[in-house]
Amino acid sequence: SEPLRLGIAGLGTVGIGVVKIVQSMPEMLAERTGRTIEITAVSARSRDKDRGADLSGYAWEDDPVALAKRDDIDVFVELMGGDEGPAKNAVEAAIAAGKDVVTANKALLAVHGQALAEAAEAAGLRLRFEAAVAGGIPVIKALTEGLAGNRIKRVMGVMNGTCNYILTRMQDAGLDYQTVFSEAEALGYLEADPTLDVGGIDAGHKLAILASIAFGTQVDFPAMQIEGIERVSIEDIELAAEMGYRVKLLGVAQMTGRGLETRMSPCLVPMASPLGQLEGATNMVVLEGDSVGQIVIRGAGAGEGPTASAVMSDIADIARGFRLPTFGAPASALTRARAATSTAP
Ligand code: NDP
Ligand code: HSE
Repeated sequence: SEPLRLGIAGLGTVGIGVVKIVQSMPEMLAERTGRTIEITAVSARSRDKDRGADLSGYAWEDDPVALAKRDDIDVFVELMGGDEGPAKNAVEAAIAAGKDVVTANKALLAVHGQALAEAAEAAGLRLRFEAAVAGGIPVIKALTEGLAGNRIKRVMGVMNGTCNYILTRMQDAGLDYQTVFSEAEALGYLEADPTLDVGGIDAGHKLAILASIAFGTQVDFPAMQIEGIERVSIEDIELAAEMGYRVKLLGVAQMTGRGLETRMSPCLVPMASPLGQLEGATNMVVLEGDSVGQIVIRGAGAGEGPTASAVMSDIADIARGFRLPTFGAPASALTRARAATSTAP
């Protein structure tokens, strides 16, 4: 069969992680997917940067939009980041040019995911984003494939490793928020804009994506209730511990009689529960289905290897020919709903 040709835009932590996996296990990937996976062309801001990987065999594009439109790629892999600008333009250009898309960009998807998924589905293309929620944890596949026989009742979890690191370190070392924030900064955990982490926005993006998949609906991200961890004090944490609780930045999405409720905020969780036991820069997602009950998945929510692992799982799905619509209400369902409304008397 024909090779699957990738164009990768963004050669930072995640992009280079993907390049390394593609280069290091070609036979295994071909055996697992039935196709050879090749990188054809790449793009980033600076062409001259030493990135710790051999990129000499790939065509270079300065402009990610030009990369997205190239005739010699089948899949556009967006690993630049940002909810507007180049990432959005390039993903739209890729769909318009008939390319499947894989992205890790939770900010883009939380705001524009439904529109992009509808455009992709209308064109018979795939938009995949396993890495966008909880990094290396295959939570989107668990929801869409593993729990296909369930009505989802609730999804919840710790979805920002940096906040979990800060809260557990405050707890374990008895240090105040500012001291631990500086430590997290020195360890390189924080996003370029740290308010995305500590303000709960990054975790909110992930919860919005999960909720839209779990409940087959659009989530109004700007209206979502989000509170970060900036105001959690060491006194809060100590008092919680005295009562047998831990403070976690917890995201919860559930369908109630009032509709879909989503909330991202610092919460008390029992110390002895799986969420209470979660230490360090780790993520944990709890999925609740009406048939399966509760399942818990934990693992690395960030970093080169874990995030690239999730991106590769999407690329492998496309190589295998999987065609699942994943985002929110599949466009076909929306189209049916609109048609039904417009023909109603
Ligand atoms: P980095 O900042 O490490 O890399 C971003 C890359 O995009 C860089 O190579 C940069 O180029 C390139 N880039 C940025 N703007 C442009 C542009 N206008 N044109 C062309 N290239 C551009 O980011 P990450 O690898 O950490 O993250 C990538 C995506 O993955 C983001 O959406 C992020 O949210 C998501 N993600 C990241 C995780 C992680 O652990 N890092 C975990 C889960 C998701 P240059 O190198 O030349 O500056
Ligand atoms: N800043 C994020 C976190 C990175 O700490 O979880 C992964 O999305």
